[in-house]
Amino acid sequence: MEARNCGVRHMNTLSLLLVCVCPLCCRGSWMWLGVTSPGVVEKLGCSNLSLSPRQRELCSRKSILLPGVREGARLGVAECQRQFRHERWNCSTNQKVPVFGHELTSGTKETAFIYAVMAAGLVHAVTRSCSQGNMTECGCDARLRGGGSAAEGWHWGGCSDHIQYGTWFSRKFMDHTLKNMSTSRSSYTLSTMNQHNSEAGRQAINRTMSTDCRCHGVSGSCAVKTCWRTMAPFQRVGTYLKDRYEHSMQVTERSKRKMKWKDQRRLHVDKHQLIFLNKSPNYCLEDRRRGIAGTRGRRCNRTSTGPDSCNLLCCGRGYNTHVVRHVQRCECKFVWCCYVHCRRCESMNDMHTCK
Ligand SMILES: *[C@@H]1O[C@H](CO)[C@@H](O)[C@H](O)[C@H]1NC(C)=O
Ligand SMILES: *[C@@H]1O[C@H](CO)[C@@H](O)[C@H](O)[C@H]1NC(C)=O
Ligand SMILES: *[C@@H]1O[C@H](CO)[C@@H](O)[C@H](O)[C@H]1NC(C)=O
Ligand SMILES: *[C@@H]1O[C@H](CO)[C@@H](O)[C@H](O)[C@H]1NC(C)=O
Ligand SMILES: *[C@@H]1O[C@H](CO)[C@@H](O)[C@H](O)[C@H]1NC(C)=O
Ligand SMILES: *[C@@H]1O[C@H](CO)[C@@H](O)[C@H](O)[C@H]1NC(C)=O
Repeated sequence: MEARNCGVRHMNTLSLLLVCVCPLCCRGSWMWLGVTSPGVVEKLGCSNLSLSPRQRELCSRKSILLPGVREGARLGVAECQRQFRHERWNCSTNQKVPVFGHELTSGTKETAFIYAVMAAGLVHAVTRSCSQGNMTECGCDARLRGGGSAAEGWHWGGCSDHIQYGTWFSRKFMDHTLKNMSTSRSSYTLSTMNQHNSEAGRQAINRTMSTDCRCHGVSGSCAVKTCWRTMAPFQRVGTYLKDRYEHSMQVTERSKRKMKWKDQRRLHVDKHQLIFLNKSPNYCLEDRRRGIAGTRGRRCNRTSTGPDSCNLLCCGRGYNTHVVRHVQRCECKFVWCCYVHCRRCESMNDMHTCK
């Protein structure tokens, strides 16, 4: 079934054959598209990608969206790494499937962030394709056209991002089954947890949308304004989701329900909230079995008080100081005519890395 039929069947030079044994890995295997170089994915085509049969079918049916799926995956991976660049868990990826390694199935709040940001990336990229007129199935939001408020001197115009199609696609592509997701459950499985967090990611696109306007009128008088609905830059969506991650909530795992009978009261879980099943490890020390790289060798900041401070990042183990030579162009002068003359300036900087 799903589990048996997936793996990277072909890849240019690496020619890696990956057999996916658990269906959960499979469902995350499309995320691998986020670390491939442009062109490779399009060249391979839907049928040769590591996708579940259902995803492969959807991909073939809407092959025009393949660049969008790749772009969505790329956005998600890049934003995850940007948001976590200063943290002990830095959202590192590998070239294998699943691209996020063990973190994809650990059921921690890191898993929650990954699913949310990847689902949001898909919505964002597919919606972009719609707005750019690349698609026949979707385009700009036509419902707004012609509306507005004449009294207040503005009307809808231009192209409003229409996220419905991208949201539908992201759901269809990522979710194994589209169950009726209840917002009030007493217990979760890894699969329903992932589904919940993916949906929270899609809603983040909806929540961070804004209205942009442009002025018209005699010499910028702004007598008339044209306005349109637009998605936030993806970095803003990432920041929103990082905040959700910081405030994520632990829920009860279904198999453990009997043991934790005291916790059986129904939690109210908001659909915008990120949820997790398992507490995160501290990510301090390398643990190959759990796919944790540890923070040894990571660069830390001696003067910072944030998570990148040497104290926090190195988990109190201390740090090494190296002196690095920094060469820059400096004191640039314009020389008549026509070139710029610069000096080479050298400076010595301290760099700290965790022991
Ligand atoms: C994709 O796979 C099919 C059959 O598995 C094969 O015939 C085709 O050549 C492959 N396409 C590319 C671009 O490798
Ligand atoms: C994350 O940290 C590891 C070392 O623990 C490093 O090898 C890797 O390059 C980092 N990844 C990113 C994306 O910064
Ligand atoms: C839309 O199509 C154009 C031309 O084919 C392409 O350059 C662009 O990257 C596409 N945009 C998206 C978001 O797929
Ligand atoms: C966006 O949010 C609004 C208000 O919560 C909701 O009515 C609408 O269905 C959402 N759109 C999508 C595509 O989820
Ligand atoms: C989902 O479940 C709720 C309550 O159980 C119900 O009211 C609603 O109609 C269901 N929605 C769908 C699409 O089945
Ligand atoms: C270290 O942290 C301080 C305070 O947050 C900041 O001003 C400085 O730019 C950081 N240095 C580096 C090398 O990131």
